[in-house]
Amino acid sequence: MSGLAKFSQSRLGAYSLVAALFLFVSGLALFLYGTRVETRRFRLEKLKVRAGRLLAANGRKPRTLKILHISDLHLQENDHKKVEFIRAITDDDYDMVVLTGDIFQFSKSFDFGPFLLARQPRLGAYAVFGNHDYYDYSLVNKTIGRVFRGMRQPDVRKDVSPHRRALEAGGFTVLVNECHVLPEENIFIAGLDYPGIKDSDLENLMKQSAGAEQLKLALFHLPWRLERLAEAGFDVVFGGHTHGGQIRLPGFGALITDSELHRSEASGLLSRGQTHFHISRGLGADPRSNLRLFCPPAATVIELTY
Ligand SMILES: [Fe+2]
Repeated sequence: MSGLAKFSQSRLGAYSLVAALFLFVSGLALFLYGTRVETRRFRLEKLKVRAGRLLAANGRKPRTLKILHISDLHLQENDHKKVEFIRAITDDDYDMVVLTGDIFQFSKSFDFGPFLLARQPRLGAYAVFGNHDYYDYSLVNKTIGRVFRGMRQPDVRKDVSPHRRALEAGGFTVLVNECHVLPEENIFIAGLDYPGIKDSDLENLMKQSAGAEQLKLALFHLPWRLERLAEAGFDVVFGGHTHGGQIRLPGFGALITDSELHRSEASGLLSRGQTHFHISRGLGADPRSNLRLFCPPAATVIELTY
């Protein structure tokens, strides 16, 4: 080998080493930022929604409700900062608070239940459960289970009575394929259980709703068969589960939604027919995969005019 060839080869080796080092340091920096910084950058976002069906049908003056939507708390016993944030934002004059599942990651976090709300909203606080409330996932479920669907879900579905007690102690009404009617306000609220309500149960639930002038709201955890909920006549449905994709690439968006939703619908306001769906990015994630990039945790205040 000539001297020139040897020189070129050693230069190429040095460049490769520098490139590998750069990639490693960048990857490590992104990982540390994604796990230690962005997961703690809790935001309160604001959104206006108009319930078109009711605004078109009703001759009366439009009304506005101020609703706080929180989701996917994944509370652990050391989540004091997250609970402080929730208490700070709930110290406001909301008409309603809705919580759409994946609330308690571990039983030790039940103690937070009675203290989640700093103030009781005028028309109540409502909650549904998510998959992390019902299942303790193993690493096998979370990794190999992503490829082999049969290994995705643990065999044991947990009793969520302690979850319910912890939330009720904090002023939440928990809805498990149940509804709550506010007759004076003419509002119907349905809580659809994870993984999704059966057609016959949905039909029975809707029999408890009143006429076309009633505001019909629903809560679910996993976005599933949105068209069916639009056909059922809901005006606004609140959901979570997707975490907004958790990792969003600039110019590309979410990589996955872990649901039937397309990547472009990983979070935010969606619609099917005359029904609006608000899919929350949530405030947490499973601690083993709690990495967020360009997708900070969020709660949302929705000003709903109907
Ligand atoms: Fe979640």
